[in-house]
Amino acid sequence: MGYEHPLAYVLGLEGIALLRSFIGEFDREFTEARLAEVRRLLDDESLGAAVDVEQVSTVEGYRGWSRSYDDGRNALFDFDEPTVLPILDALPAGVAVDAACGTGRYARFLAERGHRVIGVDSSPDMLAHADAAVPSAEFRVGELARLPVDDATADLVVCALALTHVPDLAPVFAEFARVLRPGGQLVVSDLHPEQVLRGSIPPVRGPDGRPGRVVVFRHLVGDYLRAALPVGLELRDCVEPLLPDVPPAPPADSPGPWDVWPWSLAALVPEAAGAAKAGTPATVIWHFQRARRSSSG
Ligand SMILES: C[S@@+](CC[C@H](N)C(=O)[O-])C[C@H]1O[C@@H](n2cnc3c(N)ncnc32)[C@H](O)[C@@H]1O
Repeated sequence: MGYEHPLAYVLGLEGIALLRSFIGEFDREFTEARLAEVRRLLDDESLGAAVDVEQVSTVEGYRGWSRSYDDGRNALFDFDEPTVLPILDALPAGVAVDAACGTGRYARFLAERGHRVIGVDSSPDMLAHADAAVPSAEFRVGELARLPVDDATADLVVCALALTHVPDLAPVFAEFARVLRPGGQLVVSDLHPEQVLRGSIPPVRGPDGRPGRVVVFRHLVGDYLRAALPVGLELRDCVEPLLPDVPPAPPADSPGPWDVWPWSLAALVPEAAGAAKAGTPATVIWHFQRARRSSSG
């Protein structure tokens, strides 16, 4: 059970901003403004009502999100597509696995480029949308750690914005290596651990209306390497696209309902939120290739 306290969130942003200031990224005026803001926030009674939040499984969480996932454009797409699409575009058509394909964002792109696409996801609700959107692809319900795909049959595996949901990367990268042919390519994007820390996790209301958030884990950047290298995946590239430095908007005047946290909370302290986020990576993107020969041979 999570305990989401609005005062804790805004003080957390102030804290990150103050740490950055302490190491010289901002000036004395900025630090003093933050300290004055902290004193004001501590006396703000509107920030006192905390909410207990359940951890929700991905299957349950994406059951709800599947209805709206394709309505607007997820802001994170702007931080993986500019890197991922050119890599995919440069590859010859073959058998492509879209692992944790969701509603088929990359499955569609790959099918349009002539790949035979197999999409796998643990959410039947997300897969129903993918099936309707990409009729030429084959979609299978399955787990990242047990992909329903034969050994050494894929030329390409793509896995976008999903690994933050798995507790342990090692069995998942072992599966990616297992299904790839020698020389096959793996492209992974994920929410960057810096953003997991800042709580950018959409809210989910349970059937009874209770607040929940889908389970997420904060993998270190090195965790991906420690999972990939031992199973014969060779590193081709790693990119960490940065959030832009945007001028702060005027502060909001209320924390808003829980359903719009933490974004409405960040809007209460725009200077601190901007400083806590500016120049931090939004995503991490990996390009690996399965070794052409095993290290033993
Ligand atoms: C944010 S969506 C990303 C969907 C798609 N890859 C995209 O980038 O648009 C995350 C997806 O990962 C799936 N997922 C999460 N954990 C999974 C697991 N352990 N095995 C299979 N799919 C999983 C979810 O069901 C969801 O469809």
